[in-house]
Amino acid sequence: MSRLFFVLILVLLITVHWQCEQVDSQQRVDFYIDLTDPQYQDLYLTGGYIYVNSIMVFKGLDQNYYALSQYCTNDVCMVQYQVAFNEVVCTCDQSHFDVYGNPTFGPAVYPLYRYATSLYGSMLRIYTP
Ligand code: FES
Repeated sequence: MSRLFFVLILVLLITVHWQCEQVDSQQRVDFYIDLTDPQYQDLYLTGGYIYVNSIMVFKGLDQNYYALSQYCTNDVCMVQYQVAFNEVVCTCDQSHFDVYGNPTFGPAVYPLYRYATSLYGSMLRIYTP
């Protein structure tokens, strides 16, 4: 009987820990990228985008910088910013998201995680709000 109780407690602890990891799996970030660095030169162009730290950073039609999780919420395919439509599109099954990460066309139903951006001269800060 006590062995069964022990096993039940163990399963409960593992389950709680797993759920915590699910909640915490969204990374907290706070870093800068130097827009004068040649590796980020695409961000000078309207519609340009780069991937850094599992985040897609792009310069939208409104000239603002946006940062969204680079992985589609329908699976783990990478997303791209398509300036012609001012939308973010999944490269696998063509889910569409607006620039804030909200799904606008399926199959994805969950939003992309959005990070905050702030521009200080040529330094772009990307951080968890
Ligand atoms: S992985 Fe993005 S829509 Fe399927």
